[in-house]
Amino acid sequence: MNILVTGANGQLGNSIQKISKEYPSNNFFFTDMPEVDITNLELLENLMKENIINAIINCAAYTAVDKAEDNEAIAAKINVDGPRNLAIAAKNANAKLVHVSTDYVFNGKNNLPLKETDTTDPIGAYGRTKRAGEVAVEEVGGDSIVIRTAWLYSEFGGNFVKTMLRLGKEKTEMGVVYDQIGTPTYATDLAYAIMDLLTKGFSGFTLYHFSNEGVISWYDFAKTIFDLSGIDIKLNALESSEYPSKAERPAYSVLNKKKIKLAGVKVPYWRDSLIKCLELLK
Ligand SMILES: NC(=O)c1ccc[n+]([C@@H]2O[C@H](COP(=O)([O-])OP(=O)(O)OC[C@H]3O[C@@H](n4cnc5c(N)ncnc54)[C@H](OP(=O)(O)O)[C@@H]3O)[C@@H](O)[C@H]2O)c1
Repeated sequence: MNILVTGANGQLGNSIQKISKEYPSNNFFFTDMPEVDITNLELLENLMKENIINAIINCAAYTAVDKAEDNEAIAAKINVDGPRNLAIAAKNANAKLVHVSTDYVFNGKNNLPLKETDTTDPIGAYGRTKRAGEVAVEEVGGDSIVIRTAWLYSEFGGNFVKTMLRLGKEKTEMGVVYDQIGTPTYATDLAYAIMDLLTKGFSGFTLYHFSNEGVISWYDFAKTIFDLSGIDIKLNALESSEYPSKAERPAYSVLNKKKIKLAGVKVPYWRDSLIKCLELLK
């Protein structure tokens, strides 16, 4: 397969670059904003005409959750128009599309792991644009998969794990919220899941949930990062109201992974994957 990867300089894009050598029968074309701006439909259509592309993996997104509250139109251009353009370009070229979405499409009021069939109700601008992006991909039709993921971290770019490691060196005491419950996702695991689905093949539209396995709070995640890294810091459990942010986050956004597991995709346990990432960050 010839696979076009958009947004390849982000966390997920870099993780796909990292594992791509394990898929030698495929040619990967890694692009980011300067080469392929996903908001430019004409550019995408020309690119698909001039090259034989069998699949697109869209890792490009507007991911600044708080900033999106004041910049919803810009976020929508990237998170809605972008995936719609990719779906159109892929459909016209008979190529498959894998697009990534988020647990923030839910309102977080549930207390059971969320299924693909559960009602969406985003509570912030980022989640609203990501939900509209899912709908746009489905409406275009064609062969596409949307994978919702959550709490993404990796050895690349900025993320919670890297922030905790930095703060752990700078501070002797800090607080992290314990009333937002979910599951982290190591971007390498998501990259493998995407390649697995592409390699197995698919047709039509399918929505999947993928995160690592298990259920924790951000406090538990921080505590484990510090413990595994030998960082001695006093960690206080905060309520979300004690850590105000511009965008409200869902209180409970554990994803149910039954559907993707039935499709044969592996879902590693969050702590096992965290250990792997921390090893690489040493
Ligand atoms: N991060 C999380 O915790 C999380 C949680 C759930 C779901 N997700 C979803 O997972 C996916 C991957 O997230 P990530 O954390 O890997 O994102 P990321 O690190 O923010 O990377 C996104 C990449 O897309 C690029 N980009 C932005 N606008 C673009 C455009 N118009 N055309 C082409 N590229 C563009 C960005 O470039 P610039 O840096 O130059 O803007 C960046 O390199 C996204 O769909 C995200 O919504 C993320």
